[in-house]
Amino acid sequence: MLYNFDEVIDRRDTGSVKWHYSDETIPLWVADMDFQAPAPILNAIEHVTQYGILGYTKPTEDLYDAIIDWHGSRYDLRLDKENILFSPGVVPSLALMMNVFTEAGEAVLVNDPIYAPFMTKVEQNGRTLVTSALTEIDGRYRLDLADIEAKITQHDVKLYLLCNPHNPGGRVWTTEELEAVLVICKKHNVAIVSDEIHQDLTLSGHTFTPFLTLATGYEHNVVSLTSMTKTFNIAGIKGSLIFAKDEGLIQKISQQQGLNDEYELNLFAYTAMRHAYEQGGEWLTQALAYIEANIDVTVRFLAEHLPKVKVMRPEASYLIWLDCSAYAKDDQILYDTLRAAKVELNAGIKYGHEGHLKMRLNVACPKSLLLEGLNRIDTALSDI
Ligand SMILES: Cc1ncc(COP(=O)(O)O)c(C=O)c1O
Repeated sequence: MLYNFDEVIDRRDTGSVKWHYSDETIPLWVADMDFQAPAPILNAIEHVTQYGILGYTKPTEDLYDAIIDWHGSRYDLRLDKENILFSPGVVPSLALMMNVFTEAGEAVLVNDPIYAPFMTKVEQNGRTLVTSALTEIDGRYRLDLADIEAKITQHDVKLYLLCNPHNPGGRVWTTEELEAVLVICKKHNVAIVSDEIHQDLTLSGHTFTPFLTLATGYEHNVVSLTSMTKTFNIAGIKGSLIFAKDEGLIQKISQQQGLNDEYELNLFAYTAMRHAYEQGGEWLTQALAYIEANIDVTVRFLAEHLPKVKVMRPEASYLIWLDCSAYAKDDQILYDTLRAAKVELNAGIKYGHEGHLKMRLNVACPKSLLLEGLNRIDTALSDI
């Protein structure tokens, strides 16, 4: 089936977080796509509502098989049913991991910049936030391994929350980079939670490596978090996965989830997840091709119209990290100027100090909307 990603669907007045405006603003911010979800998922949900009995539901063997096949065939991540736990979301899982791996007050390491909940969940849960800035070399972020190790020893870090692929920088960390992280964490007995929610949106020329495929011998200290919601644009469904391979660790996570009864999903999430992993591949291939073309369009547009914006081309996902420091000197003015031009991007400063004068641009929308948004960005920044 051929999907039409050019179709502009009006999302105003639907309760959409992204389209919260009463005016003509174009939202190029929060990470969801303005594309309809894959037909097999929509059909499966329709089938459930037509059947009409929506009682208590548990994961079926078909669902476990779909998860195991998807991750095994795409990433060589070998999972057994016992390695798979369910969670309402990756962010709730990040919060949960504070209690799995740390005590109140202990230090948790994240990179800077980083998807904001990495920082807020650490602090809201009474842990000490420690950051290690990424360094930019030739337009790509790199992990500063010496700084990571220094921060670990200096603050007695117990847990490292890694984001792979990285949001907002778009890096897909290489096997070598991940192995270097593992060596440091092993040496200092630091647990690793790898948020891999953008894994399936890895773009051509890059290879995603699940952290768990490298963690043999250290599995008691490694957890991966992922979800079908980002991949297939069904974030409103809510639902995600926790992968762990050590029996004791799985028990500990289950116990923590049990405290709030947060280990199960709703019927629609189970249904969507199964059909996404069973039959979503065709949609995903087409969506990624469309996204890749939109990234090309954006890179070309900015080079031509706003050549002083430094563009970090993503290796995964549809979020482009823009350094606007040549056009603005104040984060709030930068954000407000774009908003006044009726286009919304995420303010980089929300992702940590390294986000100063940066903006995050979401290009997962019909090309016509993107081009209109880019024109508004051009007008706004040219006027600053
Ligand atoms: C890195 C990362 N983790 C987690 C999430 C959100 O996950 P969830 O909606 O499952 O809580 C996002 C959403 O953009 C994200 O970019």
